[in-house]
Amino acid sequence: MPLKSRIDSALTSAIATAQGGAAPPKLASALGYAVTPGGARIRPTICLSVAMACGDDRPALSDAAATAIELIHCASLVHDDMPCFDNADIRRGKPTVHRAYGEPLALLTGDTLIVAAFEVLARAAVHDPERAIALIRILGQSTGMPGGICAGQGWESEAEIDLSAYHRAKTGALFTAATRMGAAAAGEEPDAWTELGARIGEAFQVADDLRDALYDEAALGKPAQQDAINGRPNAVAQLGVKGAIRRLEDILSGAIASIPSCPGEAALCEMVRKTAERLTPVVPAHQTA
Ligand code: IPE
Ligand code: IPE
Ligand code: MG
Ligand code: MG
Repeated sequence: MPLKSRIDSALTSAIATAQGGAAPPKLASALGYAVTPGGARIRPTICLSVAMACGDDRPALSDAAATAIELIHCASLVHDDMPCFDNADIRRGKPTVHRAYGEPLALLTGDTLIVAAFEVLARAAVHDPERAIALIRILGQSTGMPGGICAGQGWESEAEIDLSAYHRAKTGALFTAATRMGAAAAGEEPDAWTELGARIGEAFQVADDLRDALYDEAALGKPAQQDAINGRPNAVAQLGVKGAIRRLEDILSGAIASIPSCPGEAALCEMVRKTAERLTPVVPAHQTA
């Protein structure tokens, strides 16, 4: 099965479980709205690619890992868009969850998706309890405090931000989780895979800064120029457009070099190359200064 279908079918089944029985209809509907049709699904793609490179001998666990990561990501977007954070009206080209369903249901949608992520991993424990516990632990670390998404968002309430800790926690943690959980799902030691995730996460952040600076709301499917408007330090302000693109290329070639030796190494290098192509924005000629 192609990766995208594998990810979508695992996600759909997790959402259907949460919507089942006597669930309140509006919250049930908001769960589907927040997760599908979805964005680039880059994190679960990385997770499954690493699992496959490591042999993918327990595919149900790999699916659960990829699903749990994307559910956490979707939850983080729902909460991030709310008025108490970025107060955004558009996400993935459609009204944000609080715009479509109201704030109480948006808050509950984010909460439900976070709980569902851990439930998916707990349910997959029948396939290999030890690996499932390792997965739950990695996901917890990348979601909470002191170094996960909650920590990343928490930095925004500090008078002074430690920029690299902020980026590592807000964006990097879930990419590191993606490579580590892919390896752990296939029974490999996750530590060897941390560097690959960290480098892809850093590249993603630089690419996100470039897209924010260069694209408009229609192209992004979410508000543009947010770094400049909010005075946030970013790679384009620091390095210029050309410098930021060079930085992106350097980080990604380092990412390929960091891939541990494994049975599916060649295919994984190809996946990272494709990710690099997708991340690198097309720069209009007049903006290459
Ligand atoms: C957006 O992530 C949020 C950040 C961490 C900057 P993505 O660009 O991966 O969002 P989707 O899932 O494709 O919409
Ligand atoms: C949002 O980060 C996603 C999280 C990791 C919580 P941002 O606020 O920087 O990203 P966008 O621009 O809304 O996608
Ligand atoms: Mg934000
Ligand atoms: Mg935001």
